[in-house]
Amino acid sequence: MPSTARNWIFRHTINARICHWIMVVSFFYLLYSGIMIFLHFPELYWGKVGFQGYPAIFRLEDWGISWERAEELGDRRWGRSYHYLFAWVFVINGMIYLIWNGWQKKFYQKMLPTREQLSIRNLKSEFARHIKLKAAKGESAASYNILQKISYLFVLFALFPFMIISGFAQMPAFTAISPDLIDLFGGRQTARTLHVICSLLLVVFVFVHLVEMIIAGAVNQLRSMLIGKYEIHSENAEESL
Ligand code: HEM
Repeated sequence: MPSTARNWIFRHTINARICHWIMVVSFFYLLYSGIMIFLHFPELYWGKVGFQGYPAIFRLEDWGISWERAEELGDRRWGRSYHYLFAWVFVINGMIYLIWNGWQKKFYQKMLPTREQLSIRNLKSEFARHIKLKAAKGESAASYNILQKISYLFVLFALFPFMIISGFAQMPAFTAISPDLIDLFGGRQTARTLHVICSLLLVVFVFVHLVEMIIAGAVNQLRSMLIGKYEIHSENAEESL
């Protein structure tokens, strides 16, 4: 008779869960309102200058949507109001998350890769497991794997801060008091283009994140993000099946 040994662990703290869901809502609105803003001016430029007719590095028109049609689809006024509102929610929530977790040793243990995880052997086997779309089992499912840790660290400490800085570089109210920020990017148009490119990278991250969640078991993963409890299927039980 196959045994189905089950263990429960407490995976996510209350602050991680609250900040995660606030971030999901604010990310959704930032992306949606960002698309509405972009559609109103559907070209991207590099450097300091950009206007309709100026050589662009990306034109929606080349993808079959004319400037007039894009303008009809977008809504810059609605987009700006919501983008600015949720930008504050996003920034304040991110600060609360870092302050709340930053002083806890557990946070670093959970997020930072161990020496063993960084070994070539482990990296190879994690890549292979991900390519085969297999879920982690037993003890290894209890903590984040190396690819998960690298992607979370990259999103939290590279992409998110970059979105905030490139966002500020596009705000006339902010650049009026700090014009150096525009120079740092080499122009407002470059800041805008990089802001859009990083939005696309975040969309790719969210897509992969959702696929991984389904592979690892959507119900179990969602439950742990809602109430903290996470079920570990014992490796022995799997082997005996
Ligand atoms: C992290 C999620 C975010 C996503 C996915 C996102 C996405 C976008 C997109 C697609 C645009 C349209 C670019 C354009 O055509 O001008 C945009 C514009 C903009 N974003 Fe974001 N953004 C995010 C976060 C932020 C944050 C945190 C700030 C503020 C610190 C910010 C400030 C701005 C500003 C100022 C604009 C220009 C709006 C305008 O033209 O009035 N964004 N964003």
